[in-house]
Amino acid sequence: MTNLAIKEQTAGKETLVYLVDQQTDIAALDCTTAEQTYLQQKISNKNEVIVLNRYDQIIIVASFKQDTADYLTLENCRLTGVSVTKQLNHLKISEVTVINKSDWDKAVLPFVEGMALTNYQFLKYKKEAAKQKNSLTQINVSKESTTAEAIAELQHIIDGVQAARTLINEPLSYLTARQLSKEIKALGETAGFSVKVFEKSRIKAEKMGGLLAVNAGSQDPPTFNILEWKPKKAVNKQPIILVGKGVVYDTGGLSLKPTKGMDIMKCDMSGAAAVIGAFYALAKNKLPLHVVGLIPATDNRPGETAYVPGDVIQMHSGSTVEVLNTDAEGRMILADALSYAKSYKPQLVIDMATLTGSALAAIGTDALAFMGTADEEVKETMKQCGFEVYERLVEFPLWEEYGKMLRSDIADLKNIGGRFAGCITAGKFLEHFTDYPWIHIDLAMAWGFEGKGYRGKNGTGAGVRLFYQFLKQMV
Ligand code: BES
Ligand code: ZN
Ligand code: ZN
Repeated sequence: MTNLAIKEQTAGKETLVYLVDQQTDIAALDCTTAEQTYLQQKISNKNEVIVLNRYDQIIIVASFKQDTADYLTLENCRLTGVSVTKQLNHLKISEVTVINKSDWDKAVLPFVEGMALTNYQFLKYKKEAAKQKNSLTQINVSKESTTAEAIAELQHIIDGVQAARTLINEPLSYLTARQLSKEIKALGETAGFSVKVFEKSRIKAEKMGGLLAVNAGSQDPPTFNILEWKPKKAVNKQPIILVGKGVVYDTGGLSLKPTKGMDIMKCDMSGAAAVIGAFYALAKNKLPLHVVGLIPATDNRPGETAYVPGDVIQMHSGSTVEVLNTDAEGRMILADALSYAKSYKPQLVIDMATLTGSALAAIGTDALAFMGTADEEVKETMKQCGFEVYERLVEFPLWEEYGKMLRSDIADLKNIGGRFAGCITAGKFLEHFTDYPWIHIDLAMAWGFEGKGYRGKNGTGAGVRLFYQFLKQMV
């Protein structure tokens, strides 16, 4: 964990980070003439980290590039933070104080965000964990650079992202559906949101046929989790609902996935993790908004009693689905959650899911696929938030023709479309179970394959910051 704090006064020989841009008056920095000359040579309009290694103190000068749009410059600040954290850990430094010397007030928070997010590690299963631990534990920000409230808010957002990452990184041997429910409860207690868990008997009573079908091949029972944050001063009358795909492991079921690529399928609850992380930040920061989270959770396995291709399943909504591929399981469990959401008469429902390989194929891991029936204005706000947190959204259409691809000979619809547009037909399938303003996000950014930037390798926690930013906008 990385702790953030406000620093009233800097004194002594502590490690300092000066955040600067090209406009910064280098002569005003507390540096020797030789250092100033050196800095003047080095600083140009790009992201650059310069270490002044004095015999009794380390000064880091972090310079960010001013870009053609604010949101790009915000991202440059985060990326500069990435290099600084790497340097600090390389130098075995544990505590640092950041001072914003640039003209841009907005620079310091994303910079610290980039630093703290880069510092995340998942060492639970490492014998040598202590040795591999990052040295950096404390990031202070000078009181001139920001406010205590802003730092506290950022801390909670970062903790929400880290919690999401850890849930994603936990393997199936630990994180079964039931364990996921326990983790949600624990986080609920810490952050102050309430959690209700339906066990299998209740799920049966609710007739959540999609969730039960996906779970049929598993040794472990499913759970259906309801998170709620309902502050007295909520500005909305009808709740906003966040739905997250909680497939704790996706083997594909009887439509088994090949080994290559299956290993990362512990990430198939990243949508759920995003909802959980966002709830953590939302409750900790006490946003005056009534929000409900719905998380159907199970693994998808080819057990003896597994649902089979050709099966017809009656869903929570009453509709029947012809299952033509058991690997299209996410939509089966989300459909039940979306249908359950109707009972809340929601203002808006947003679901997030690692739903299709097709989304990945279309837009790669640097964006999220997005579609929905909500008002243009709401969708525009969402897109704007995507730019601000740099989890950018690409909108796909929900044209009628795509819906036709889901027609079944014997049931109300089938669970896969044709060869093409898999990401959209998945969205069309979900749309069938909604009767309220709705947004669907296919979380192509869930897994860091290469480990670039502050998202890191493995579970990225993408979606948490997007959800939080959006909810904040709604206030
Ligand atoms: N969980 C996968 C989608 C996925 C694949 C997420 C790779 C992240 C990385 C989902 O359940 C799935 O298997 N989808 C199928 C649907 C198909 C059978 C219609 C897919 O996209 O191949
Ligand atoms: Zn699947
Ligand atoms: Zn899946």
